[in-house]
Amino acid sequence: MPPTIIKVVNKTSVREPQMGSRWPTHRLSAIIAGTGAHVPARVMTNADLEKIVDTSDAWITERTGMKERHIAAAGETASDVAMVACEKALAESKVKAEELDLIVVGTVTGDMPFPSTACVLQERLGASRAAAFDVSAGCTGFIYALSVAQQFVANGVYRTVLVVGVELMSKVTDWTDRSTCVLFGDGAGAAVLKAGKDTDTGILGTYLAANGHGGQHLYMPAGGSRHPASVETVQQRMHTCKMNGNAVFKVAVRNMADAVKHLLQETGLGIDDLALLIPHQANLRIIEATAKLLKFPSERVFVNIAKYGNTSSATTIIALDEARKAGLVHPGDNVMLVAFGAGLTWGGVLIRF
Ligand code: ACO
Repeated sequence: MPPTIIKVVNKTSVREPQMGSRWPTHRLSAIIAGTGAHVPARVMTNADLEKIVDTSDAWITERTGMKERHIAAAGETASDVAMVACEKALAESKVKAEELDLIVVGTVTGDMPFPSTACVLQERLGASRAAAFDVSAGCTGFIYALSVAQQFVANGVYRTVLVVGVELMSKVTDWTDRSTCVLFGDGAGAAVLKAGKDTDTGILGTYLAANGHGGQHLYMPAGGSRHPASVETVQQRMHTCKMNGNAVFKVAVRNMADAVKHLLQETGLGIDDLALLIPHQANLRIIEATAKLLKFPSERVFVNIAKYGNTSSATTIIALDEARKAGLVHPGDNVMLVAFGAGLTWGGVLIRF
């Protein structure tokens, strides 16, 4: 089955007049006004995992590039971790929660199936004016959420939007399955988007893609209408993440490289115009293979997988926040976020700072 591709490029264009007075004549830019990130306090090292399953520091390091990850405490929720990231992003952007028009959260491990974690955050932050919803796209969650938010800003519907990527994968991990439990960590990142007039800065383009046929390779079977929670679903560990790692690995490299190429083509930039590539942190070998396929220098690929593992929808925004705060992102730099995940989904966002 061919994948569904959605391409959106922030080219300045005149809108249809029948859209109403709320809509601007020209598209606006969506500027990243601030970012924040947070991970739970507890660190789990590869040595700790050696005590839980039949694995080794050498295997995990060599096959994934991971050394440690942060794991939420019992009772610590996705909104607890996201709150800290949101408060940091709001503080940096000098935006008060009550000024927010919209909150979009990319997550598959929110506080509960409903209401959305975005609504939980809306209440906890005191963002009383904001509409709020979650986006489910696995590890591509932040990219999808940011792309949706960018549309609202570019079209003049909302001026100030909080976009969050948060995941507590440890809560849906089968801790007896060594092929998955070593891979994931918990964490959150957030970005505040503001409307601007200069369409040469901010989000220059987004690219989203999906192929539901690949959903069988990465999923959590129970807890929805197909397999509602029961004693059997719990006993059979159906409320945990199932993954065919090899199948995901194969398409991940090709799909991330495709997303980068599509975005460059649509925005008229070349690969050399990218100051920094921030890929999903799922496996160091996937990151290296993607850079190699793109013939992109590894010095300009941001990698922090050793410290956090795969925080799913939070990886790219945690990495962007770290890169910015380490002084690696300068005014005028083109930075691309690119990810893949459950769905299967993949996509990218090109931002000029
Ligand atoms: N420790 C030691 N040995 C292990 C471990 C482990 N933790 N896990 C698997 N092995 C063994 C396997 O049992 C197998 O043994 P065998 O040859 O005796 O059968 C051997 O290692 C090789 O297994 P592979 O699965 O072929 O290992 P591979 O090199 O492919 O690495 C991995 C597995 C790390 C899962 C890789 O396939 C991968 O990273 N896949 C992509 C994962 C991913 O990115 N997921 C998407 C994001 S998640 C989201 O969207 C929510």
